[in-house]
Amino acid sequence: MYSKILQFPKDFAWGTATASYQIEGGVKEGGRVPSIWDTFSHTPHKIEDGKTGDVAVDHFHRFPEDIALMKQFGLKHYRLSLAWPRIIVDEKGTIEPRGLAFYDHLIDALLEAGITPYVTLYHWDLPQYLQDIGGWENRKTVDAFLRYAEVAVQHFSDRVENWMTFNEPWVASFCGNLNGAHAPGKKDVPVALQVAHHMLLAHGKVVRIIKDIAPKAKVGIVQNLAWVEPATQKDEDILAAVRWDGAYNRWFTDPVFNGSYPEDMVSYFGNHMPVMQESDVEAMAAPIDFLGVNYYTRRLVAYDSQDQFIEAKQTYRAYVPRAEFEEFEVWPEGLYKVLTSVKEKYGDIPIYISENGTTLKDVVSADGCVHDPSRVAYLHDHFSAVHQAIAEGCDIRGYFVWSLLDNYEWGFGFSKRFGIVYVDYEDDLRRIPKDSAYFLAGVARTNTVKVQSL
Ligand code: FCB
Repeated sequence: MYSKILQFPKDFAWGTATASYQIEGGVKEGGRVPSIWDTFSHTPHKIEDGKTGDVAVDHFHRFPEDIALMKQFGLKHYRLSLAWPRIIVDEKGTIEPRGLAFYDHLIDALLEAGITPYVTLYHWDLPQYLQDIGGWENRKTVDAFLRYAEVAVQHFSDRVENWMTFNEPWVASFCGNLNGAHAPGKKDVPVALQVAHHMLLAHGKVVRIIKDIAPKAKVGIVQNLAWVEPATQKDEDILAAVRWDGAYNRWFTDPVFNGSYPEDMVSYFGNHMPVMQESDVEAMAAPIDFLGVNYYTRRLVAYDSQDQFIEAKQTYRAYVPRAEFEEFEVWPEGLYKVLTSVKEKYGDIPIYISENGTTLKDVVSADGCVHDPSRVAYLHDHFSAVHQAIAEGCDIRGYFVWSLLDNYEWGFGFSKRFGIVYVDYEDDLRRIPKDSAYFLAGVARTNTVKVQSL
């Protein structure tokens, strides 16, 4: 029987990831002001199950218990995000000390438990007072972001070394402003491109600010990269796949690494191109220390004359398994390909897998446990794909499984469970580690994955 132990590099960082709005709750506590997600989730018919993140999984109060779980499972690295509306509470830039204090307690507790924090500044919870002046469409929001980041980094950089500027600017800009599935819920191509531009600009500018304040800090951006393939070898499908890759991958990575938008897409978007200043291009390409890659799926793309954005649509093959989140194929090979293609295109940049995981219809079994063999298999295969990329010379530093806990999955509310820890929404948000938590603990402890024949 074939069996092989895949050894990961020394100091490889194993952990989990979360985001403030998805887990914290406590939306009216500690002086927090509303975010665009409060507004959006409270708007009828926007969220699949009609639920809001008002309480979420109550991490605001239960973080000591959640940190104890990470410790119990030997997960020594944790990616979290700060809620901007807890920290800067109005357009004038007023600081809310109780917001800083909440994160002081959280970060101190992590450090005490031997867990290294990786902090994302923007995981989509824009303060509503900024949306009221146009949100990311308005260049003033870039300045507001810089002010917030400066306050956060000045306050926490004595304890936080790893900073991530933005989480998935394409989801934040396109899902929020192109297909309306996310806050603020707009559907407008030029607006989406303008928003994306301001986020990329804010990213570049903030990298420099963080480095000035904390020269030892390691700074990166988190991009969700999909592996894109044409559905057939017909020219129209091949070109549609190039556009998909251009709009969703290269549009967000080229400016960061090359200081320019991809030319093919610039001419495709034509007069939809965002308004920019000459210095923006250089600002966007501030050197970063690492790239965060969120990987969930391959996209098999075909030409679609009905699609208003890039004349392309995602297609599926019936024999390729999909996640419960049906838009996502289970395609570990794509993660390997994304990682090797980043190296090919942009050189030897250190990479973290900043998110990867899957959603299942988890249930508590009669034995009181949550058995999720499909998630274990999913993680096993994706870890192995990353190992292959490392073997081929990619500099991968760590892996954050999405997510520590079942949580508020944006437009899907609580209807999707991504956690390695089950949250019982019917029983006081009780936490029950799933089998995948035990699996991840074993991988983290041994720093290996075992591959064997079926
Ligand atoms: C990513 C998001 C994360 C979570 C996962 C499932 O796009 O960054 O917050 O929703 O998808």
